This record gives sequence, structure tokens and C-alpha cells, in this order.
Amino acid sequence: MGSEDVYYPSQEVLDYATVKEYNSLYKYSIENTEAFWAEQAQNLEWYEPWDKVIDDSDKPFYKWFVGAKTNIIHNAIDRHLKTATRNKIAFVWEGENGDLRVFSYHALNREVSQFANILKSMGVKKGDTVTIYMPQIPEQIFAMLACAKIGAVHSVVYAGFSYESLGERIKAAKSKVVITADGGFRKGKIVDLKSIINVALEDNPYTQVVITVKRTGQNVEMVSDRDYWYHDLKSLPIASIKCNTEVMESTDPLFLLYTSGSTGKPKGLVHTHGGYSVYTYSTMKMLLDVKSEDRIWTAADPGWITGHSYIVYGPLINGATMFLYEGAPNHPYPNRWWQMIEKYGITILYTSPTAIRGLMRFGESWVKRHDISSLRLLGSVGEPINPEAWKWYYEVVGNKKCPIIDTWWQTETGGHIIAPLPIFPLKPGSATKPFFGVQVAVVDDDGNQVQPNEQGNLVIKNPWPGMACCVHEDRERWIETYWKKYEKFGWYHPGDAAKYDDDNYIWIIGRSDDVIKVSGYRLGTAEIESALVSHPAVAEAAAIALPHSLKGNAIYAYVILKKDFAVTADLENELKDQVTKLMGPIARPESITLVDSLPKTRSGKIMRRVLKARAQGLDVGDISTLEE
Ligand code: WTA
Repeated sequence: MGSEDVYYPSQEVLDYATVKEYNSLYKYSIENTEAFWAEQAQNLEWYEPWDKVIDDSDKPFYKWFVGAKTNIIHNAIDRHLKTATRNKIAFVWEGENGDLRVFSYHALNREVSQFANILKSMGVKKGDTVTIYMPQIPEQIFAMLACAKIGAVHSVVYAGFSYESLGERIKAAKSKVVITADGGFRKGKIVDLKSIINVALEDNPYTQVVITVKRTGQNVEMVSDRDYWYHDLKSLPIASIKCNTEVMESTDPLFLLYTSGSTGKPKGLVHTHGGYSVYTYSTMKMLLDVKSEDRIWTAADPGWITGHSYIVYGPLINGATMFLYEGAPNHPYPNRWWQMIEKYGITILYTSPTAIRGLMRFGESWVKRHDISSLRLLGSVGEPINPEAWKWYYEVVGNKKCPIIDTWWQTETGGHIIAPLPIFPLKPGSATKPFFGVQVAVVDDDGNQVQPNEQGNLVIKNPWPGMACCVHEDRERWIETYWKKYEKFGWYHPGDAAKYDDDNYIWIIGRSDDVIKVSGYRLGTAEIESALVSHPAVAEAAAIALPHSLKGNAIYAYVILKKDFAVTADLENELKDQVTKLMGPIARPESITLVDSLPKTRSGKIMRRVLKARAQGLDVGDISTLEE
């Protein structure tokens, strides 16, 4: 190991970890990849076994466990009902207002079955896509699982998105049925969701039914013959507690999840029942090291991939107990998280660097008020973690005894790709090494491996079961976005810059394309720019990310106003509001600068790199392609 900060695991951690050795199992998994995944898959139950572990006859559209019959719900719920796990707690939920709800696996099955029967009675069939736009309440999870159970495809839209983004996603998924709630609680206030749905559904030819869960009880507008209260439906005989789980092909779609790319509209990544089950199961078990005695809190929103994989499916397939919290981390006081960790005896905490930095800002005295010694493992996800936040997490939250599992992955990868096992010596800020069965490299634009400590493009060299199967209804985009750049090698190109160090540890540097990570949320510059241009004053716009001490990155926008447009004093705020209104508060620019021109290539592409370098007072680099 190099001379920089290295944190070695204690004997206790080494003894307790599920996987005790990396090198030989990694070697085995790379030399016998199909056998390795078959062995992992055999830990799950299948209605009928697969003929082939992987079918690569239509690259880069890989198919996993081909021929197998399954349903992720069988492994997430049904299987547990035959064992003592049926009486185990599946999850504990605390509302921001202190409400408490607890569900055993048996109760979870009942809730999911009822929801599934309601969806069926509303005409939802196998293969239909249902959009879910909900606060973090138990029904959000029941809704997702109910879709999967009847073979419908869920498309969860994060509740922080505004009507424009939501409406676009509902239309793209052609959802006949949309599930929402009247609202949710955040920072002691009601976040209105139903009225956003109402606006999003104007001029929508697809949606015939909106199921609304009552959470806050405020007055909302219900459209007759379209909108139904969930509790009304649940009291009808159709909402029986018995429901068969639909038998699916391993390769059938489980969910769509829209995510931002560097160009155009967000794309719907499609994940399937079989491969995704195996991958979330294995990564949860080996990297997050979840065990029967754990209580895991993935403090993320179920509306993002982290929630799908490590709040919902990964923990349930492992028969684990999860904790869920509805609201803001500092409500009513900045000790809220630590109080809940103490109260519920949380053992694994998995969250984002932004959340850690946010809590760090309040100071350690809030942490010290509580006995959080139940924690044994900490995880990080969504953006690079800066060493200062890493150390605070390690020392103050983990009391120097919890390994920090810094997990690099994406919506597209379905689960962790690069992350340490708990037994690894750790370096703050390094996601360390690839997971079993996955080969990664850091290469230059021609595909040559770069030298240690030199920056390059991260690539994944071989397929893995958690990978998305495709982009929803857009074959070309799947190829174009991820596979074109290294087509000749058949490598997956995630769009991140990275480097290796002298110990062969990987350090993720950040996005190398026009995707911005703000507080761990993924946004496309193209979407922000198009929101700005939709304002009557704006002729052209460019958005870039600049480092921000709390959010990781913040959005800086540059706009050219239309000729003759009279600048008002409040124009900057008006433009910021425009973005918030159309996309949601996470996309709100930090600053907007009015400019006369934007740096462009001769072919008219905005050179965001130049804007960024200038804003930071750095050398703008090679600008030979810049037009005058
Ligand atoms: C970034 C989130 C550094 C990365 C699971 C990736 C990270 C994008 C890490 C995917 C990490 C995620 N260290 N960067 N541990 N985890 N990223 O699809 O840029 O919302 O490409 O998935 O987040 O974002 P997404």
C-alpha cells in the first residue's frame, strides 16, 4: 500500500464479513464468469431453470438466464413465506411527523397482493407500464412490488420532479394507470403531489386512472371517473389478500427508470426480472454484507436506482429488515437521523456524500447525543466522496470501527460495479476494485490502458447480470450512448473519468460528459438548457457544473437574451424559477449570467468545457475547434 491515508479493517470486521478473500474469488469469477453467475443464481429459487446463463447473440443487447421462468417477487416475498422469515420484519417506516408503521414479510405480502388485485381490477395487464409518483411512504413500495407481481412494468418518477418532467415520462411510458398520493411531509410542510399530477396529465391521451393514496389529508382536486382514493378501493371485495404471482420469463421487463443523459430527453432504462434479481441479491449480500440480524437503512429515495436496488429489491431478496424514513434529515432538529439510528438499532447506513456533508455541517455534537454504536457498516453512493466527508463519516458516525463501502455504479448497471468488500484496506475517496465477474479498465480515447495516476475513461469490458437490457423503445440510443465509443472492443462506456493508483485502486473523478451530478442527483445539461430557452426572454442557454462544497456540484447557467428584450431587475430569479417550475427544485441553477455570446465549435456545439475553465479561472486548454 502507498504512503497516503490507509484504513485497515479490524479483526472483528475481518471475522464477521461474509466474503473473506477477494483475489482468488475474483480470479475465479473472471475466468469462469458463467459458472460464477450460475452459482450465484442457484441461491435463488426459479420456477424453471435457465437454458443459458447469457445469450450474447445480439450484442450489445445481452440476455441473462435465458429460458428461465421467474418473478422477482417470488424471491423477494413468496419464498420467505415458507420459512421463519414470514414472521420477520420486512421494514420499519417512520414518517416525518413521527408516524410509525411496521410490516412483517407476511404483512408485506398481504399489502402487495391487495394492491396487485386493485391494479388488475383497473385493467392493468402483464407488460403494461404503470407510473408511480409518490412520497416516501410504505404504499410507494407496495405499488412497485404489486406491479412486479402481476407482470406489469413500474416506472417510478422521483417526487422532486415537476410536472413537465413527470408528464413527459408518463407519456413516454404510455401509462394507463398512474399511482400517486395527495402529498408528503418534508421539513414540517406538505409537499403537494396531486396537483402536479393533475397538471402533468393535461393533454395526455394515455392515462385513464389515477390511484391516490391519502397521506397528508389536505384538500386535493379529484377528477371524476379518473381519480380514485386508494383506501376506497382497498375496502372493496376486489382487493382480496390472495393474488398469484405471475410467471415471467427471466428476460421480461421489471421496470423502467428514466435517467438523464448528455443529449436529448431522458431515456428509460429497462431492467429485467432474472438478471437484476441475481445481481442485486449478490451485491447486497457481499458488498453491503447484509445478514439476517441487520437492520439496513438505505437513506435514498425509492424513486432512484439506489432505492430500487438497495431499499426495495436487494434487501427483500436477502430476506433482510430495512428501515425507511419519509422526510428531511434536520427535522425538527439536526439529530433526527442519529435519533432514529439509536431508536431502531440500525446496523448498516447507506447514503450519499451530499447527505453526509449536510449532516457534517451541523457539527458532531448532534451525533454525540445519541448512542449509535449499533452501526457496523457504512456505505456511500451517487458521487465521489471527498476525503474530508469520508473521514467524518468514518470517525464521527462510524466511531472508527465501520468499513466505508464506497460504491460506484449507475442506473444502467443495476447494481454496484466498483466497491470494496468490508475486508479491504480503505483509502478515503477510492471506490477500490471491481465486483466479482466484472472487468473494468481506465483507457484513453483509443482504448489504450492509461498509466497509473493518469486520468482516462472508465470502461466495463464484459457484461454482468444487473445491466439494463436496453433503452425503452430506442434500440439505437442504447448502442449510441454506451457502446459506440469502444465499439471495436465491445466495451461499455459509462461516461465517467477515473484513474488507477499504484496499488491498483480505482478513483472515480466524475462525469466526463454533459451529465451533471447535483447533490447526487443526475441531470442533463440539455434538459436544463431547454427549460431556460422555453422562457420568452431567452435565445440561447448553456449550463455547466462547478464544484460546490455541499452539493458536490452546482449548476451555473449562461444565457443570451433575445434581441430587444428589456432586462428586468428580477430576470435572474425569474429564469431560475422557470427551471424549478418545469423540472423541479433540484435543477434550480445556482447562478445565471447574461452573456452576448457562447463559445461554440465551428459545427455549432457549445463548448461547455471552455465555459467551465473560464469560470474557474483555469487554462481553457485546446480551443483549436472554437469558432471565432
Ligand atoms: C456517479 C447512481 C463516484 C457517476 C447509483 C455515475 C459515483 C453516476 C459514485 C450514476 C461513486 C455514482 N463515486 N461517482 N461511488 N456512484 N457515481 O445513474 O458519475 O443516478 O456515472 O446512479 O453517478 O448516477 P445514477
